[in-house]
Amino acid sequence: MSATTDIRKVSILGRESIHCGFHLVPYIVKTILQTLQSSTYVLFTDSNVGKLHLPTFEKEFASEIGKISGDPKPRFLSYVLPPGETSKSRECKAELEDYLLLNKCTRDTVVLAVGGGVIGDLIGFVSATFMRGVRFVQVPTTLLAMVDSSVGGKTAIDTPHGKNLIGAFWQPEYIFIDAAFLETLPAREFSNGMAEVVKTAAIWNQDEFNALESRSAEIFAAIQTPSKDFSGRTQATRSAAQQLLLSVIVGSISVKSHIVTIDERETGLRNLVNFGHTIGHAIEAVVTPTILHGECVSIGMILEAEVARSLGVLGQVAIGRLTRCLKAYNLPVSILDPRIANLPAARDLTVDNLLDIMKIDKKNSGPHKKVVLLSRIGKTYEEKATVVKDEVIARTLSDAVKVVPVLGGPKNSPIRMATPGSKSISNRALLLAALAKGTCRLRNLLHSDDTQVMMNALQDLKGAKFSWEDGGETLVVEGGAGSLSVPEKGKEIYLGNAGTAARFLTTVCTLVQPSTTGERTIITGNARMKQRPIGPLVDALRSNGSSVDYLEGEGCLPLRIAPAGLKGSRIQLAASVSSQYVSSILLCAPYASEQVTLELVGGQVISQPYIDMTIAIMKTFGIEVTREKDESGKLVDVYNIPKGTYVNPENYNIESDASSATYPLAIAAITGTEVTIANIGSSSLQGDARFAKEVLEPMGCEVIQTETETTVKGPPIGTLKAIGYVDMEPMTDAFLTASVLAAVATAPPLPGRELSDAGGPNATRILGIANQRVKECNRIKAMIDQLAKFGVQTKELDDGLEIYGKPIAELKEGASIHCYDDHRVAMAFSVLGSIVKDTIIEEKRCVEKTWPNWWDDLENKIGLHVEGVELAHEKAGVSPSDKPRGLPPSVVIIGMRGSGKTFIGELAAAELGWSFVDADVAFEAKHKIGVREFVHQNDWPAFREAETAILQELLANYPTGHVLSLGGGIVETPASRELLKKYANNGPVVHVVREIDEVVKYLGEETARPAYGEPILDVFRRREPWFAECCSYEFINYTGVLTNAGPDTDAVRKEVRRFFSHITGDSPNLAPNVTNGNRSYFLSLTYPDITPALPFIEELIAGVDAVELRVDLLRTPKDNDHSGPYVPPVSFVSQQLAALRLKTSLPVVFTVRTVSQGGSFPDKAEKEAFELFHAALRMGVEYIDVEMCWPKKQIDTLVSRKGASQIIASWHDWSGNLQWDGKATTDIYRSASEIGDIVKIVGKANNLEDNFSLYNFVSRASKSAYGKPTIAINMGTEGQISRILNKTLSPVTHPLLPSKAAPGQLSFSQIQKALNLLGQLPAQQFYLFGNPISQSMSPTIHNTAFQILGLPHHYQLLETTSVGDEIKAAIRSPQFGGASVTIPFKLDVIHLLDGLTAQAETIGAVNTIIPQRNADGTVSLLGDNTDWLGIRECIKSRLPASVGKPKVGLVIGAGGTSRAAIYALKSLGVEVIYLFNRTKASAEKLQQAFPSANVQVIEQFGQWSQGAPSVIVSTVPASATTLDSSATGALLLVSAIFSAPAGVVVDMAYRPALTPLLSLASETKKDWRTVRGLDVLLEQGYAQFALWTGRACPRRAVAEVVTKAYERN
Ligand SMILES: NC(=O)c1ccc[n+]([C@@H]2O[C@H](COP(=O)([O-])OP(=O)(O)OC[C@H]3O[C@@H](n4cnc5c(N)ncnc54)[C@H](O)[C@@H]3O)[C@@H](O)[C@H]2O)c1
Repeated sequence: MSATTDIRKVSILGRESIHCGFHLVPYIVKTILQTLQSSTYVLFTDSNVGKLHLPTFEKEFASEIGKISGDPKPRFLSYVLPPGETSKSRECKAELEDYLLLNKCTRDTVVLAVGGGVIGDLIGFVSATFMRGVRFVQVPTTLLAMVDSSVGGKTAIDTPHGKNLIGAFWQPEYIFIDAAFLETLPAREFSNGMAEVVKTAAIWNQDEFNALESRSAEIFAAIQTPSKDFSGRTQATRSAAQQLLLSVIVGSISVKSHIVTIDERETGLRNLVNFGHTIGHAIEAVVTPTILHGECVSIGMILEAEVARSLGVLGQVAIGRLTRCLKAYNLPVSILDPRIANLPAARDLTVDNLLDIMKIDKKNSGPHKKVVLLSRIGKTYEEKATVVKDEVIARTLSDAVKVVPVLGGPKNSPIRMATPGSKSISNRALLLAALAKGTCRLRNLLHSDDTQVMMNALQDLKGAKFSWEDGGETLVVEGGAGSLSVPEKGKEIYLGNAGTAARFLTTVCTLVQPSTTGERTIITGNARMKQRPIGPLVDALRSNGSSVDYLEGEGCLPLRIAPAGLKGSRIQLAASVSSQYVSSILLCAPYASEQVTLELVGGQVISQPYIDMTIAIMKTFGIEVTREKDESGKLVDVYNIPKGTYVNPENYNIESDASSATYPLAIAAITGTEVTIANIGSSSLQGDARFAKEVLEPMGCEVIQTETETTVKGPPIGTLKAIGYVDMEPMTDAFLTASVLAAVATAPPLPGRELSDAGGPNATRILGIANQRVKECNRIKAMIDQLAKFGVQTKELDDGLEIYGKPIAELKEGASIHCYDDHRVAMAFSVLGSIVKDTIIEEKRCVEKTWPNWWDDLENKIGLHVEGVELAHEKAGVSPSDKPRGLPPSVVIIGMRGSGKTFIGELAAAELGWSFVDADVAFEAKHKIGVREFVHQNDWPAFREAETAILQELLANYPTGHVLSLGGGIVETPASRELLKKYANNGPVVHVVREIDEVVKYLGEETARPAYGEPILDVFRRREPWFAECCSYEFINYTGVLTNAGPDTDAVRKEVRRFFSHITGDSPNLAPNVTNGNRSYFLSLTYPDITPALPFIEELIAGVDAVELRVDLLRTPKDNDHSGPYVPPVSFVSQQLAALRLKTSLPVVFTVRTVSQGGSFPDKAEKEAFELFHAALRMGVEYIDVEMCWPKKQIDTLVSRKGASQIIASWHDWSGNLQWDGKATTDIYRSASEIGDIVKIVGKANNLEDNFSLYNFVSRASKSAYGKPTIAINMGTEGQISRILNKTLSPVTHPLLPSKAAPGQLSFSQIQKALNLLGQLPAQQFYLFGNPISQSMSPTIHNTAFQILGLPHHYQLLETTSVGDEIKAAIRSPQFGGASVTIPFKLDVIHLLDGLTAQAETIGAVNTIIPQRNADGTVSLLGDNTDWLGIRECIKSRLPASVGKPKVGLVIGAGGTSRAAIYALKSLGVEVIYLFNRTKASAEKLQQAFPSANVQVIEQFGQWSQGAPSVIVSTVPASATTLDSSATGALLLVSAIFSAPAGVVVDMAYRPALTPLLSLASETKKDWRTVRGLDVLLEQGYAQFALWTGRACPRRAVAEVVTKAYERN
């Protein structure tokens, strides 16, 4: 046997039981049969592995058993399980045990686990407990299982409470590692295992790590090329790649076996294998199963290495290497990796959540978390995990940081420190060492993105070899002397956002020697990189004969470069944008075919110091460049580069980075302390080394600079001088640092530096930095925007900016800085953070580019405190964008003239509380003449041009919080259309649509705008597509064509509020019961045309949370009789929606059900379906039901545009075959949860039990990591109970509907009754407390509503003389559902309550008691006040349009109710509230109670010093008022009360219906609307009902009953 199979054995727990090799199946079977004799061998595997490898085992067992003599021969059984983690369950374990028992397996059975970690863990545990333990053999088939899970004897299964919670230690008899199994393993699974391999090397074996780091391509190759004829089974047939793979696996296993042998039960040393697992497991708990274990551990390793770094235990070099190595195996290294960040579950990767999960780590000692700390590659800090404070972990995990100012400045002052190696020098030296011949040792190399991608690229180009010495501190470069080859086929060189690498490598790629295959080199980068310019360099190379193609945008990466060598000779280059182009050509020039003369053209050369630096470093590597001079001896921009080969110096020490040095030096300057930067002085090659002398010294700092060191001592804090004028062209990168200092520099500049033409002596003008607009971001704009957050004023200049210094005490605290993914922005603002409290730097990680441990150095070396901060908004940094955060972007309104843009826009602004801007008004303000006149004086084209300019200004000046209404013709010019389209990517552009007939009618009356001069219909037709193209939303200004109903202003107002609050995200119109997990319902509208249902829609929707529009059932009047599949036109659907919207503000569920899913929409009409979905999003539909069977790409696009709306990902199976407990259903659920905010799965019940398995499914699924609110229903009458118990958006019907949307559907009221019978909705008691109350209408209101909704509750009167025991007993009874409180108990009742709402608190009275059930089962009583709501709603709904926003109000009376009246008026935005009361003292007392409401006590009606009131509320009894001037004792009401031309008057008096005040109002011949006490009572009652039940009160039906009862009495 061993003659034909070569095995490497590893010993564990004293036995050589791990056998490794290739193609081992025959060996395995023989070894088992010979050494583990038994009557029965049972092989367990999963179906993936079974398909591929089970037949080989079966064949081998059959043949070997056949050779055994004697009877009975042993049995061989096999059992195949479904693949995946779900098999590691109790149910599965029981299933296997039953299988073994059924097959009469006894204690001598030998079990084989052939598969990945899932099979190993599960079968191991079954073996551990079956018959109290049977022998078992592990045959791991995944890399993870080979190197990790099979070794060590841990076995386990999962429970809904967590993974691996139940299990045992049970050592296998053998572990057979057959590396040939890896050839069939998916690449991602291989990488998953590599995470564990890298981990083991990282903690234990530096040499192993070096091999993994440098040989990733070979290791991948070993599994990618299938071995033929069992090659590798013997040493003789083993390829080099196979040898390598096996040694990596054996190396990793040996380490783990060694550790397990010393510490089997994980008491100390075995902890070490948990490196990366403390944080990795927490991440895994959130994103499993989509993201694999090894992928999470990979991220965990980097984060835990960063924890070690922040504790000063580990250097950055090790982190850089670990990062690069993991990336080389395609593993993610950050939760911002798109594979993770794009998952819905990623939202739960919050710092708090992760820390919370870590609390239950097995390694913890009590509350203390433990992390394995690396001290260098191959070694850990302790031989066990180390206790680490939560604060340190939190800082590592958080996206953002806060720099905490320290009184007296950084505590380590005077500070002496070195900064990381210069980025510019690192990039140049690295490239030169690679292009040179010989070996060079680079020290202090900056481990940045640039150096990382450059090393990867040079390896891909086979240009050099890299290795590490001194524990990674020294990079050894074996130069390739300029020999470069095209990367292997299909491999693109990916450069991320590393700008320098991109520029340098572009020319390097032209040097690649011609290849025979015709392949070319492709270099590419991330999205931002694809916008950064490279055109001038490509132009120069092209004119020199190189072939370089742009693969996407002109002038940017990606590039395809032909390998043909560089021609050379005279090269012309435009060097006014970036000096990196110049350096790129200089660096490569010695290798051109002909000697290069480089001539720089195109104006002022930018950043000369960087060019000089390149030349100086080239000299160190043996090539001397000469610069030409003109006749007068002046240097000109022409360089001669000799041909030759670079020669590597033995060692090269990289100077510290001078740009980085500016930050600690600036901290010294701003805090008045002292910092010395070793390694940078006057002899530096870097321009930024001049910062100390040329910027800090003139600002008042003491600067001492030797050749190699710089020391800065700041003046006393707050005394920095403005710089006046400074040209920063030689040190452009340092301008951000200078800007933050200038922001607090208030003392006048030094004499001679003053600016005569600036705004004041505190101005600093920085010039020479125009190139900073095209860096990682537009840095000039970035500084202007972010400084503004501190209240610092600036001015943008063509070539720089001006900053006006402000005293530190006046700077705004708590600024949250957006960094645009730019390291320099982050570090510059941390300087300001050192003196301004609570400055948050939002994207902490962007410093990784040049100073990855900046935050650690700030804390440890400089001595400021840095705290981790979790941002409240969505995860920062997932897609860094320049979009400012804060208020939602302004809304832009477009549409035909006469479509109602101004009306809708003003209303929208009022409802959102934003400002309205009319472009016509802005136009007039700017041009001092009206639009009509302008066109008259000039012409149309001139007007259009001016109009575009106005648009541009409006968008720039009002980016947020405004509603901007534009002229109808704005879409006529391409320039404006482009502006609008661009804006629509970020902010809403709303097209107001109105039927053309209405527009024509309206325009007939309007004259403000110039006439069209062409038929209006033509204009309409021409502009219509342009409006559609420019808008992101459509507001249908519906005037009722379908219903012939005239416009109802209150309905329009409500719809405007709904639409604009929703689309701006200001207050999305989603169903609250869905969001907070209560029971929720939608009504399915199954009409072919919904308009006939609209008159009684209120009745239909009673109780529900949303309305479903079954779009597939709609039919136009023309196609009314059409049966069979049908596509309703978008225009018809829009009208239907618009008509519905004017009747209800409930969210709409937009459903297009296909034929195969039980609807009537054609299955294949994909284009039409998505047209409808997109139209729905444009109209602000809240929920869109999207069937999972539509193509993923279409769904993804839709999801990306959904805004505040939500997607219901649905799946319907009518066959009756859907198994709720089957894997297929779980898979459907999982994919649906990735797309949908809500998941809907509908099956069909064949029996009652099907509903129970549905119920179990939902409880399991919604608790899982990918759980979402779930609609799960079984069709058919057998499934009715599932409709009753479903919690989220249960579809309901109504007896008035023409047909049910689906068989078995119930009405809302039926479901409530059923819930009551099932004990899910116990009956509650509601009360009215007060005295006297026998006449009250409240019982009628609430009992009518309960009855209509089918709720089992009852409302009754409880009339008492005081707030005493009766009331106490009622509110503390378990059946208590809520109470109304009226006179005289609105204050007395407060002491019985547990809390008040803010409104009740301010008003100082309670009229509603709400019991709230707490998580621990106790009940708290909350006092609220709905009186003010009743008053406000009544006023709002009746306010005449001419009043607009009411500014002045009047309250009559100063009792309890007037408090609610004042509150209501204030909440309406009323600016002046007159208060009249006969006893002036009471009025004054009330005035004092509302200090912010501007209440003015008046003694006489008509004393309107601030204008006449347009809203009036009277709170005095009607009987106390009179219109009769001769009456005595009563308050005389006079017509001066109604001086204003229009308004609303509310009389809170309940009887008579027509009070003196209301009759006086109707007598004025003006536009005064009246509100009766009964109206307010109803309105506040509706509000109470909603607060108690979470459901809207059926208003109209209730009002009818109540009014009748009121009139009867
Ligand atoms: N016991 C331990 O010490 C320990 C350690 C680490 C992980 N684990 C456990 O291991 C499990 C994960 O193991 P895994 O990553 O191997 O997962 P897995 O068993 O689910 O295998 C991954 C996938 O690869 C397929 N597969 C396996 N071998 C294949 C092959 N040779 N060719 C083609 N496909 C193949 C499987 O069918 C499965 O779909 C987890 O449950 C984890 O908790 C246990």
